[in-house]
Amino acid sequence: MKRLKTLLAALCLCLSATAQAQAWPARNITWVVPFAAGGPTDAMARDIADKVSKQIGQVIVIENAAGAGGTIGAAKAARATADGYTFLVGHMGYMGAGPALYKKLSYDPVKDFDAVFRFPDTPLVLLVGKSSPYKSAADLIAAAKASPGKVNFSNAGLGSSSHLIAALFEAKAGIDVTQVAYKGAAPAINDLIAGQVDVMFDQSNTALPQVQGGRLTALALTSTSPMPQQYPGVPPLADKVLPGFEAATWYGLYAPKGVPREVVQKMHQAYLKALGDKDWTRRMGSQGILLLPDASYAPEAFAKHTASEVERWRKVVTDAKIQLD
Ligand code: MLT
Repeated sequence: MKRLKTLLAALCLCLSATAQAQAWPARNITWVVPFAAGGPTDAMARDIADKVSKQIGQVIVIENAAGAGGTIGAAKAARATADGYTFLVGHMGYMGAGPALYKKLSYDPVKDFDAVFRFPDTPLVLLVGKSSPYKSAADLIAAAKASPGKVNFSNAGLGSSSHLIAALFEAKAGIDVTQVAYKGAAPAINDLIAGQVDVMFDQSNTALPQVQGGRLTALALTSTSPMPQQYPGVPPLADKVLPGFEAATWYGLYAPKGVPREVVQKMHQAYLKALGDKDWTRRMGSQGILLLPDASYAPEAFAKHTASEVERWRKVVTDAKIQLD
């Protein structure tokens, strides 16, 4: 009798979770973006949220929870209820490099989250202000070699992509620069435009309007191929200056661990349907965003990618001696 009661209780719980997932989404959904509004993560998240929300028939609210290179917002999302109404927009920094960078990280990108789908990638652009004395990446490296610590790089926070890629550039070029951390790429780029800092690596999509509008100059790309439509005449760093240098930020959507599987599947299917809009994907491509094969966007592929990136960054952080000081 006791066993029967336990079985019935388990069955009820299971049925109610399935019923909840079937009714999903019954109200607004929140995507936590752990950087300031107006930056690359925020811009990409808003664009994708807009398209996905049309597919699922519910509003997706973007909540900017900025600070500490994205780790504050990620920790907040990890503690949220796994009911399909709170998600994290994660990226290479706090969901890939985070465990190698922070001695005490209050979340585990693999154990505390379920991967939902991967966004397209973005390469980065090495940027300087309009009146900068540096006309090429080689000029900049020569100046930094002549005066160690004198060239200032702004970044979106310690452990952000802009910080990590600048640290890799520093290690590869054999230079010593000063990193200045902000709560996101948007305030970091504003100070670059205002001449408060000398250099920044920003994502290709949000750097583009600044370069096209004549407010910043692009010196080099972190992609190995040039981007003649978006950045005509701008060479990849791997061409001559730093052979082998290649970087792009990956992003994606995560749910707190234990979210109903049906929710993950519905969200992923909605995203794939949205990607069927070729005008939209063409527009992303024209902004320097790198679209991926559909298989890479899938939850299982994205979960595997996250786990392998956590391992890869342990080695990269050690080899490049990246420290959060
Ligand atoms: C980064 O560099 O990690 C991102 O650009 C941060 C942001 O989206 O603001």
